[in-house]
Order: sequence, then structure tokens, then C-alpha cells
Amino acid sequence: MRRVTSFLGVCLIGLLLLSVWWFVEHAVGRGLRLADPDEIAASRLYRAEAPLSTLAIYGHMVVGGLLTLLAPLQLLGPVRRRLPRLHHVLGYTVAGLALATGIGGLVYIAAHGTIGGAWMSLGFGLYGLLLIGAATQTVRLARRRHPAHRAWAARLVILALGSWIYRMHYGLWHAFTGGAGTQDDFGGIFDRIQVFAFYLPYLMVLQLALRLPALLRLRGRAARATT
Ligand code: HEM
Repeated sequence: MRRVTSFLGVCLIGLLLLSVWWFVEHAVGRGLRLADPDEIAASRLYRAEAPLSTLAIYGHMVVGGLLTLLAPLQLLGPVRRRLPRLHHVLGYTVAGLALATGIGGLVYIAAHGTIGGAWMSLGFGLYGLLLIGAATQTVRLARRRHPAHRAWAARLVILALGSWIYRMHYGLWHAFTGGAGTQDDFGGIFDRIQVFAFYLPYLMVLQLALRLPALLRLRGRAARATT
């Protein structure tokens, strides 16, 4: 049975990696175009007068792209069981990339805000803080071999995929509604919901899934007590 679930897990993660690939290419490619005259001329994010925050935002695209690609690999059961050394090295790498991505995004927000104004800055700012928090907790608990390590690692993977999920929500929404509730300045109702909806609901579902066994046990005990 374990072989079947391992095989299915590997297939699912393979599919996930194929699905994120376009975004990884886009993010890493755009981040590396920092010195490209066309990018400099056309980009709102490039600010010659603010080299530190420009480096931070372009740098966060490169490390964030790598994070999106590498984080799901940590979910591979066979790697965790058979290649623990690789799992550890990859774990530190993913956590480091998450810290760098979060810090890069937060530096840019602190310096210039975002295209969507204070509301978007709040949503993206919280996203960055949660990413940093999840990376720190995952490593801290793993080093103590604490069982809560797995829950934090799962949160970290969800947050690592958040930026891709954000774009997927927009892609699907545009395909089905033609972009209702979206505006160029990200002030539409859909835009305003999106700044939180690409990570908070997924974290809540995970929380529910983590709590489910305990809730079911409690219900079973209550049912037995009343019979
Ligand atoms: C998880 C991996 C991440 C990747 C791959 C990523 C990638 C990108 C890319 C490629 C852009 C440029 C827009 C575009 O070409 O689509 C961007 C913009 C931005 N990202 Fe990220 N990002 C990630 C995580 C984060 C985090 C955690 C934060 C918050 C701390 C953040 C904050 C921002 C901000 C503020 C902008 C500019 C928004 C504006 O246009 O005003 N990103 N990101």
C-alpha cells in the first residue's frame, strides 16, 4: 500500500512541478534581467534612484522562483525516508530561499509600497512575514526533532507556492469571467480579496486537516460516553 501512495505522491508532485514551471521561468528570467536596458526602460519596479530596493525586488524574483520550484520536492516521501541527507540539505536551502524572498519583498514594500496601495501592501506584507515565520519555525522544530515540524513544513510549502497560486487565481478568473472586479490599479473587489485569498484560505484548510483526527477522536469519545 505504501508503494502505491508513494508512487501517486511522486506523480502528483511531478504534475505540480510541471504546472509551476512557466512561473519559475518567468520569475527567475525577469529577476535576471535587472541589467537589461529594455527591462530598465519599461519596468515600474526598476528605480535607478533606489538601488537597494531595486536589487531587493529583482533578487526576490530569482530566489522566489527557485523557492517555488524546490519547496514541493520536500513533500516527496521516498526522498524523506531513503535520502534523509538530501532532505536536510534541501530543507535548509528552501528555508534560506524563503527568508531571502520574504525579506526582499518586505524591503521593497517598506520603501515604495505596492501598485495596489496600502491594502495590497498589507496583504503582501503579511504574506512575507508568514513566509519568514514558517521558514524559521520549520528549521527550528526540525533541529529539535519536534513533531510539529511537519505541520510548519506544510505551511511553508503552501506559502512558497502562494505567488504562483496568486497568478493562477487571476488566470482562471479572467478565463471564466473576463476579469470582473479587477482593475489596472488593483483596486477592484476581486483584486482586494485576492491579496489575502492566495494564501489564507489554503492555510485554513491545512489547519482543519491537521485538526481533523483529534476532532474525530473527540466526537467518537463523546458518542461512546452518551451510549
Ligand atoms: C514565493 C515566491 C515569489 C515569487 C516567485 C515572486 C515573484 C514576483 C515577480 C516575478 C514579481 C514581478 C511581477 C511579475 O512579473 O509578475 C513580483 C512582484 C512583487 N512581489 Fe513577489 N514573488 C514571491 C514572493 C513574494 C513575497 C513573499 C512578497 C512579500 C514579502 C512579495 C512581494 C512582491 C511585491 C511587493 C512585488 C511588486 C508589486 C508591485 O507591482 O507593486 N513577493 N514577485
